[in-house]
Amino acid sequence: FPAGCQAYRGNILHFLNDPGNAPEPEPDSYEYYPDGLLVVHQGRVLATGPAPELISRLPGGTDIRHWPEGLIMPGFIDTHVHMPQLAVMASYGTQLLDWLETYTFPHEARFCQADWARAEASQFLDLLLCHGTTSALVFCTSHPASVNAVFEGAQSRGMALTAGKVMMDRNAPANLTDTARESYRDSCELAKRWHNRGRLRYAITPRFAITSSPAQLQLAGELAQAFPDALIQTHWAENTGEIELTRQLFPERHSYLDVYDHYGLLGRNTVLAHGIHIGDQDRHRLAQTGASIAFCPTSNTFLGSGLFDLGAARAAGVQVGLASDVGGGTSLSMLATMAEAYKVCRLRGQTLTPWLAFYLATLGNARVLQQEDQTGNFRPGNQADFVVLDPLGAPITAMKHRAGQSLQELLFDLMILGDDRAIAATAVAGQLLWQRPDADEQPAP
Ligand code: GUN
Ligand code: ZN
Repeated sequence: FPAGCQAYRGNILHFLNDPGNAPEPEPDSYEYYPDGLLVVHQGRVLATGPAPELISRLPGGTDIRHWPEGLIMPGFIDTHVHMPQLAVMASYGTQLLDWLETYTFPHEARFCQADWARAEASQFLDLLLCHGTTSALVFCTSHPASVNAVFEGAQSRGMALTAGKVMMDRNAPANLTDTARESYRDSCELAKRWHNRGRLRYAITPRFAITSSPAQLQLAGELAQAFPDALIQTHWAENTGEIELTRQLFPERHSYLDVYDHYGLLGRNTVLAHGIHIGDQDRHRLAQTGASIAFCPTSNTFLGSGLFDLGAARAAGVQVGLASDVGGGTSLSMLATMAEAYKVCRLRGQTLTPWLAFYLATLGNARVLQQEDQTGNFRPGNQADFVVLDPLGAPITAMKHRAGQSLQELLFDLMILGDDRAIAATAVAGQLLWQRPDADEQPAP
């Protein structure tokens, strides 16, 4: 290995492919190296493998960080989260449309102030990192300042972040709405400024059908043609009241999905949050177009929206990612998100193996965001975005860990019982940006 590389030692797990949802993961869908080594050079993965073997190939004096009980995995990816909604979390007692009107819209209005937006964006990104999340697809507000703030913060941290200005020109307070033309112009300027700048990408972001006029959705479709490799994100079929109002607003369209389809918003780069109240025709069309669903379980249960049918979506060939949807969601932790996903599956008579859950939060979500060429696993050449999961970080996971566990049991404990205490360290492009203050780190032997 060349001079100037860094090495991280611990138990290394990453996925090479979808493991499926059967009790045993698909053969060759993952690699696991108990006492493994992750070798990083200039921010990128050089190699992973058994530590005893690789250590002998390191140049003398190479710095090795060692977490003997730690599980080193690719950084988590969140495929749907709202930067301006940290303080909206835990808002009491409403369903989607009332929640938006009562809590969310008034709070998002504050992001017209650039100073406020910068401070919130910075806190948001630091919170992602301390929850082990290194990449995300992010909603900002309708104010361009909120988009600049999140991109500036992500750029200074080296994160692969995708974000966009919310387009909304109706059915919302005046201090949040734009016009169709303004939203096109602002989105276009922001995309020209930020899209594909380093690891940043732009996402065309109509909030949902209810808050966009047909003219605005038309222009969103034109943006998608102007920036063919930009992402497209919106909300879809989350709540029955939302679906009914959409039907009234777009009587000429034969389904909610057809609204987005009609305006050219469905393709491989499209991520639709929720997709709870849908049918086989919808699933078929998603599979055909390559559009993905972001499954947001803590949001869906908190807002009482419904239970996403993971089994039906996957059986139909729909690409599904996992997402926090903070502030409808109740945690930025992808571990907490996996736990809730498991419970939603149980309530649907299904299950969710820890293999599939951890795949979804890493490589699966990288695929949803079309960035598996740089994140999601430790393929050599990928950026070294990783998290160190620590079963000793909290009493209950520590107790169960000491009793001796298989890898599958450890993963399931982490996803059901884990929270931010399980995150000992988080690195972006080989830089350790978060280390739990008390993390049980030991010097190399
Ligand atoms: N639908 C439209 N806007 C939102 C939002 O901010 N959060 C959620 N969960 N659903 C939405
Ligand atoms: Zn959302």
